[in-house]
This record gives sequence, structure tokens and C-alpha cells, in this order.
Amino acid sequence: MRLRLLPPTLVNRIAAGEVIERPAAAVKELVENALDAGATRIDVQTQDGGKALIAVSDNGCGMDREELRLAVERHATSKLPTDDLLNIHTLGFRGEALPSIGAVARLRLTSRPQGAAEAWSLAVEGGAIADPAPAAAGAGTRVEVRDLFYATPARLKFLKSTRSETDAIKDVLTRLALARPEIGFFLTEGERALLKLPAEPLGDAGRLNRLAAVLGRDFAPNALPILAEREGITLTGHIGLPTYHRGTAAAQFLFVNGRPVKDKLLVGAVRGAYQDVLAHDRHAVVALYLDLPPTEVDVNVHPAKTEVRFRESGLVRGMIVGTIRHALAGAGHRASTAMTGAALGSFQAQPVQTHFTQWRPIESRPAPALAEAAYRFQAPPAGFAPLPGMAQPSDFAPAARAEAPLPAPGEEAFPLGAARAQLHETYILAETRDGVILVDQHAAHERLVYEKLKAALADQGIARQALLIPEVVEMEESAAEALLARTADWQQLGLMVEPFGPGAVLVREVPALLGKLDLPEMVRELAEQARDLGDGFALTDKLHHVAATMACHGSVRAGRRLSVPEMNALLRQMEVTPNSGQCNHGRPTYVQLSRSDLERLFGRK
Ligand SMILES: Nc1ncnc2c1ncn2[C@@H]1O[C@H](COP(=O)(O)OP(=O)(O)OP(=O)(O)O)[C@@H](O)[C@H]1O
Ligand SMILES: [Mg+2]
Repeated sequence: MRLRLLPPTLVNRIAAGEVIERPAAAVKELVENALDAGATRIDVQTQDGGKALIAVSDNGCGMDREELRLAVERHATSKLPTDDLLNIHTLGFRGEALPSIGAVARLRLTSRPQGAAEAWSLAVEGGAIADPAPAAAGAGTRVEVRDLFYATPARLKFLKSTRSETDAIKDVLTRLALARPEIGFFLTEGERALLKLPAEPLGDAGRLNRLAAVLGRDFAPNALPILAEREGITLTGHIGLPTYHRGTAAAQFLFVNGRPVKDKLLVGAVRGAYQDVLAHDRHAVVALYLDLPPTEVDVNVHPAKTEVRFRESGLVRGMIVGTIRHALAGAGHRASTAMTGAALGSFQAQPVQTHFTQWRPIESRPAPALAEAAYRFQAPPAGFAPLPGMAQPSDFAPAARAEAPLPAPGEEAFPLGAARAQLHETYILAETRDGVILVDQHAAHERLVYEKLKAALADQGIARQALLIPEVVEMEESAAEALLARTADWQQLGLMVEPFGPGAVLVREVPALLGKLDLPEMVRELAEQARDLGDGFALTDKLHHVAATMACHGSVRAGRRLSVPEMNALLRQMEVTPNSGQCNHGRPTYVQLSRSDLERLFGRK
């Protein structure tokens, strides 16, 4: 075997394999160059998903003849003036992107420095660099990449359809555009304009505008601003309310020092932050901007520069989780108001006219007060366990009464108002000073129980209540084994289980908080979870998950009648409970219609 140094064109092609794996990667490199050059407007044109053509034009600083020549040389960069890889302020720093593209495509740079009289153009084809030639062009730079991978047919075969390459390009550009709202970004594929993002003002409002342009108009009313600062690290951005979730994580945007990154640590932190308020298969919508001294983060981890490594990763993670949770807890009562718009929309979509014609004449008397109906069913629901601090069953008014009750004075003054009726044995209708509120009783109660369980866990532990008659629950043998393997954990959660022969367990005590519950169902589900989790699960994280399951089974179900005092007690509890705007699955616990919404609905305004 003879050792030999590889010729530079081959070296570049090998490097290109890492840096430029598809058209979107080339777009990313070229747009980053434009950003580093101080451009305020960047235009990207592609043809055939970037496979035939990628052209990126900017109005940045431009390059003169000599700079053009150097720009396509390997390891030539203007961005590392001090040789310090730990102190990087630009998006580029390796001097690899242009030579890599030049090695696998037909590359042409045309550039004119700001204030210079002439433009120059330089072509690279399959690694061969031609001499710069005079050209006609405005100030700034235009880079054209034609026939990507024509020089590496193997790579060409791996390219996907025009459609999916175009999607990838759009995604890359969108992320860069979110990082820099003060810069205009435009993308056309063939004749079609795919992104039109004019420059926004610097600052928070501009950022939110850009986010809205990307995510849709409904993002802003469903988002919370965040801001945290710790040990030189700043975290800003906007996070979606838990009720505003998506089926994929594609709308999670993370930026570190202005660089879009897809980092596992950050993604995990977002998941952790929302874990309590979002179902497992749903994904939050967030745009997080992390700014920290360049020396605290290593961006030279991945050839595409999309991953970073933090010096203090624990601190960063903790900061993200803490900041998001804090913001969400503070917004508990905003969550579902944001849903109102959609609800209102569906109200208005009714063909009102036809409905009216079908109605029989209305009695002149106002419809019987809804609360009256509610009061007829005042018997406390069997087994509804009032939460500590809630009205006790003995406080309840007599069970049967026909006349509408006078609301307890001042109830309307509470944020969630005075309960007026229970509808379909599922929803609580409450009147507030400024409108009406419709509460999903199960969702709301589930959240309350869950928060109580969590608080008790963190505090002196969950109180247990012995069952008068211990209950035998049957299940699959393997599930029973998994459940019994963790007896101590269940005990901590207030559940006492014992073996009871193959495929069965005996339950002696349950968490006192839960009240009446579907015990066999709950224990079976917990056993399933224990089996799925296997042996090595982190106790605290999963305990919360388990507590959520318990809360679900131990909560007032839909279809159970509630008395007015019970309903009011529930409302009062919601007001003081963190995250009570949504249930543990990220569904809203209540929606709200303001008076002006009502007036709009009825055309009074
Ligand atoms: N659009 C542009 N406007 C002005 N100068 C540019 C432009 N694109 C590239 N350059 C110059 O060409 C040099 C080489 O660009 P290239 O992308 O190959 O490397 P880099 O940006 O320095 O590092 P990286 O490989 O990490 O991207 C840059 O350092 C810059 O000086
Ligand atoms: Mg670059």
C-alpha cells in the first residue's frame, strides 16, 4: 500500500460531503455568509429544490478582487482575526463553506464592495478556480450555485424530491429569519414566492411580528414573553401556551447567540418544561433566544454548526425549564382565554337566519334561570371528595329547590365568577363581572388534584386513607409483577399494594386526596405504566407522571352532577392553583367569553 497526500480537489470533495449534504445546507452557508457580511436584505432564489440553482444575493459589505479569490480557497476566512476558536462572534469561522460548494458544484461569486467602483466575478467548477473577471453589479454579493453535486454523482442520487428539498430550504431560511428579524428575507422557488419577510424593527415587537409572520397570526395572542438572566446568560423569547400545541416539534426554534441550533439538550429542556401541561404526543411552540459569552459555548461541534456544547449545560437547562415553567404558571388563567377566538369563530359560523326561522315563538318571560336547573340536582355527588379548603358537603343547601338561588354575594367579583349552572353534566357555566366562563369540570378537577398531589409529594408526603374493604385488582401477570416491584414508590404516592396470587394485587390504602375513584382502572393503568417504564426510571420525573394518572382517575368525571356550592368551590380552587388554565394534557380547563364578545355575537355592537 502506498501512502499519498490527496489532491486538494479530492480533499475538498470529501470535506464537502460533511458540510454540504443537501441543497438546504448550501443555502444555510450562503445566507450565513450574507449575514456575517452585514446584509440587511437577503434574497434567495432556487430552481428544482436547489438542485438546479441556488442564488443568494445580499447588500452586505461585498468583496474586492483579491478577497474573491481568497474566499474560495480552503481555510481562508476573514472571521477569526485572533485565532481563538473559543471566542466566535460570527456564524462562519472555518473558511470551508465556499471551497466545499465549489468542489461539488458550479459556483459563481459576483461582488462589489460598498463604495467601490467596480464589481468582479469569479467562477469555480468542480474545484477548478478561474481568474476573476470584471462584472456589472450593485454593491453587495451574489453567489450562484448550479448543478449541485454534479461532480459527485453518488451524492446526487441521495437527493430527495424537489418538494422535500424545497421544504428543507424553507425551514433553514425560516430559522435564520427568526434569528434576525431586523433583516429582510425573501425566498422564491422557480416562479413561486415562498417567503416574504420584510425587515422588522429591532426589539421585542419586531421579533413577535416576525414570529407571527412565520407561525401565523394566532401565535401572538397565544404566546407569553419570557425573560431571564443568570450568571451572564440571557434567555428571551416567546413561548406558546400549552393549549397552543402542535403534532410535531417543527415549531420549536432555538437560538444560541443568534445561531439557529437543533440541540438535544435544549429540546429536552423544552419537553421537561412542558411535561406537566402537555400530552406526550403533543409539542409546544417556542422561540427561545439564548445569549451568553462566546467563551461559554462551543459551536465547533458539528460540521453543519447546528449543534453546540455548553460549558455549564446544567445551568442552561435549569434556566430554560425554570423560566418556561414560571411563565406558564403565571399565565394559568390566560391559557383558555386564548381559545375564545376559535370558539367565537365557530359560533359565528352558524347560519343564524335559518335557525331563527325554525324556532318557535319564545315566551315573553325570560327563560328560567339556568341556575334553577342546576339547583334541582343539588345532592352532593356520591364520593366527590372535596379538596381541603373546598366547601364541605354539610355546607350544601337542601337538595331539592325550584326557585333560583341568589348568588352568594360577591362571587361574581372572583376572576372565574359565580357558578350559574351545570350543562350536560360536564360543563360549569359561570357568570363573571365581564362575561361568562364555561369550565370543563373534569379537566379542571384533574388539574387541581394533580397540583395537590405534587405539592404533597414535595412537602410531607401524600396522606393515605385505608379502604374499608381492601380491593383485589386483577391484571396480567407481568403487569402485576411490574407493579409490585415498585411497592415502595407507590407507598410514597399514597398507594399500598400487596401481592395477591398470580395476576392480582390487593389494594389496602389509597391517596386520601383522590376521593371516590375507579380504583381497578387506575391500578391497572399504573401497572401498565410501571411495565412500560422498566427498571431504570428516574423516580421524581415519573412520579409526577404517575401522579397525573392518579389525578385523572380520582377526579370528578364528566357526567357527574355538581351542586352550585361545589361548582363555586371548584372555581375558587382553580383561581389559586398554578396552571389551572389547562389540564394535564394541555387541553383548556375553561373558555371565556367577555361581554363584548357576547355583544359581538349578537350584533349588539
Ligand atoms: N456574502 C458575502 N459577502 C462578503 N464576504 C463574503 C460573503 N461570503 C463569503 N465571504 C467571504 O468569504 C470568506 C469565506 O467564506 P466561507 O463561507 O467559505 O467561510 P467562512 O464563512 O469564513 O467560514 P465557514 O466555513 O464556517 O462558513 C468569508 O470569511 C468572507 O470573508
Ligand atoms: Mg461561511
